[in-house]
Amino acid sequence: MNELIQYYNERAGEYEEVYMGKFPFITESDPYKKEAEELNKKDVEEIIKITSKFGRGDLIDIGCGTGFWLPYYEKNCDAITLLDDSENMFSECRKRVTDLGVWSKCHFIKGDFFTLNFENQIFDSAIAGFFISHLDVESERNFFNRLKNILRPKAEFLFIDSAWSKWRSQYREKEGLHERTLNDGRKFTIYKRYFDRSDVERMFKNYLFNIDSFYISDAFLVATGENQIGEIKN
Ligand SMILES: C[S@@+](CC[C@H](N)C(=O)[O-])C[C@H]1O[C@@H](n2cnc3c(N)ncnc32)[C@H](O)[C@@H]1O
Repeated sequence: MNELIQYYNERAGEYEEVYMGKFPFITESDPYKKEAEELNKKDVEEIIKITSKFGRGDLIDIGCGTGFWLPYYEKNCDAITLLDDSENMFSECRKRVTDLGVWSKCHFIKGDFFTLNFENQIFDSAIAGFFISHLDVESERNFFNRLKNILRPKAEFLFIDSAWSKWRSQYREKEGLHERTLNDGRKFTIYKRYFDRSDVERMFKNYLFNIDSFYISDAFLVATGENQIGEIKN
């Protein structure tokens, strides 16, 4: 298991604290913590508004984690594939599926998105929430090549991730190996990057998605687009 999956496996029970702006081992007096609580919550509300209108037909949620966004998009879809490589994130996600009573339309795939064989599966919509920020530019290319192979023309794509902003730049590096600490003090080193508006525009343009909606603020961003057919210039 690679360190990223190990980290999410161990973090599963406390993962959603980030949406409340809570970070282990950042002291109460640290301005990042105080500010993040407010900014993260505000941006989550905006993401929920967009996510509630998103999704149709057969949807795939890539790196679904605990299924945090599932309550907002599930009603728009006929069938939902929840894909993740972390068993413990899946356990949290299963609880959510049970609470929502949506087992009949949910299907779980445990595995690495980069090596799974989707055979002839094809989707009408896809979500990548806080997934691409763990990919360097080469893996990003690989991700989109695989994604486009499993999407119908004009399929909808929802991208949710961490924003690069003036506020963020006071406390974080835009890209690189970052140390993360769990509530019990264990430390992990993971690759993470943050996106500004132009990064998102470049990515959607390079991989032939138009942009239908876009929200970016200090903490998070959310963009939706439509899959266009054509040749990606790798
Ligand atoms: C930051 S969490 C995001 C969870 C959820 N999408 C959200 O927005 O709250 C990233 C998730 O991606 C999963 N993941 C990372 N790399 C993966 C891969 N190559 N294949 C499948 N899942 C992966 C992790 O296990 C983790 O649950």
